[in-house]
Amino acid sequence: MSFDLVFFGGTGDLTWRKLMPALFQAFRHGKLPAGGRILAVARDQRTDEEYRAFIKERFHEVDSSKRPSDEEFARFAELLHYRRMDLSKPEDYAGLKDWLDARGADTVVLYLATSPHLFPAICEQLGSAGLNAPHIRVVLEKPLGHDLASAQEINRVVRSVFREEQAFRIDHYLGKPSVQNLMALRFGNALFEPLWRRESIANIQITLSESIGVGTRGDFYDRTGALRDMIQNHALQLLTMIAMEPPSTSDADAIRDEKLKVLKSLKPFTPESVARDVVRGQYRAGSVGGQAVPGYQQEVKVPAGSHCETFVALRTEVQNWRWAGVPFYLRTGKRLAARDAQIVVNFRPVPHPIFPGAQRANKLVIKLQPEDGLELHLLAAKGSGTSESLAPVSLDLDFDKAFPTERVGAYERLLLDAIAGRLNLFVRSDEQEQAWRWVEPILDAWERERVSGGEGPRGYAAGSWGPAAASALVARDGFAWSEEQ
Ligand code: BG6
Repeated sequence: MSFDLVFFGGTGDLTWRKLMPALFQAFRHGKLPAGGRILAVARDQRTDEEYRAFIKERFHEVDSSKRPSDEEFARFAELLHYRRMDLSKPEDYAGLKDWLDARGADTVVLYLATSPHLFPAICEQLGSAGLNAPHIRVVLEKPLGHDLASAQEINRVVRSVFREEQAFRIDHYLGKPSVQNLMALRFGNALFEPLWRRESIANIQITLSESIGVGTRGDFYDRTGALRDMIQNHALQLLTMIAMEPPSTSDADAIRDEKLKVLKSLKPFTPESVARDVVRGQYRAGSVGGQAVPGYQQEVKVPAGSHCETFVALRTEVQNWRWAGVPFYLRTGKRLAARDAQIVVNFRPVPHPIFPGAQRANKLVIKLQPEDGLELHLLAAKGSGTSESLAPVSLDLDFDKAFPTERVGAYERLLLDAIAGRLNLFVRSDEQEQAWRWVEPILDAWERERVSGGEGPRGYAAGSWGPAAASALVARDGFAWSEEQ
């Protein structure tokens, strides 16, 4: 199957930092279908050779295990081409079409790795140039909009040019092997499903914590904030996978229909519940891994007095028969104590304890990052003869060890899926809009607070687990975050 993969924004950060290394890995692993060409388009004038030299140079900044040798790069570089394009000029799209038509590849993937505000204009131009035939797919990088209206506008334009099955909306978390394992855990095993409900589960916690700060992305981040950057997409996608009903098949739409139902079942926020159930924070100076780090407001390109949240913790519920009354706690933040992505399923305690001592309930920890594995926390008798109280034990599974060679990175997987036309790991427009609809009352409440001169997010020390109010949010229900248990 021949393919042409076109990167709009071909000299940008995303292309050389994530996409080219991922493609190179696919190439190295022999997974990139034969007969492929990769075309980067951007504003400046370069030859293919100059572009190849640019990418080769950039590979020095990539993790060493993912860097090609000279010989490997030379082979990979044969796939790379470059084309100058002014994205506002119809004749440049016509030129691109001619270039693509001259070969007539079976599949064309147009990857928009540009600033998202350009997506509608680019899609319109693609449509006018006839670059929307059925064998053409468009890949859209997040962030897709900054609120419901802007997301709807992008989707309206995309839909007017492409059919839904031609649109591949990226949430790179869905490409992580550990996240795909969530589906395997739930729907490939009979063990958990009978327990996966309100009768057995006390609460579910989803944590996506980062120890890094905003780095040099202060201007972008300040317009975005943690709610838009991590909760609206990554955290909600994880929630849907944990809470969804078993789909009837593994088809993309069967899965996405079930995920959408979860999003529609989330308890809507009101101004009162935002005040009660959502905690936002902003990091102050502190220390991470023994190193002193500045506060958010001292980062480059962050405006003084910013109200941007770098931390969010919230409580929600999935209002259906399976989950009624079970709190789902979501938490994300920058400059927290550790880089950690995990889902903790806390089970209910035994109904009638017969052993002495404190009774710990069972818990399943689904570790997504940096390790990829499962921990099942149980209680066992020590058999020491001196005490009848039970001791905590855990069953640990490390998927990186179990499948050492097979694991592929998120972007590698998603690029290969886009080329192959597999939509399962991409977000459908209605899912994405529903996620915006759900977070919007939170954004509105914060905006009202800002306009009325409110104090904004609570400060938290870099290197901590966020504001104390986040612990209080969970403690109010009689629970604790996993690291406090
Ligand atoms: C991105 C966010 O979507 O995800 C970044 O824009 C964040 O702010 C990143 O750092 C986290 O991704 P990962 O794969 O490192 O957990």
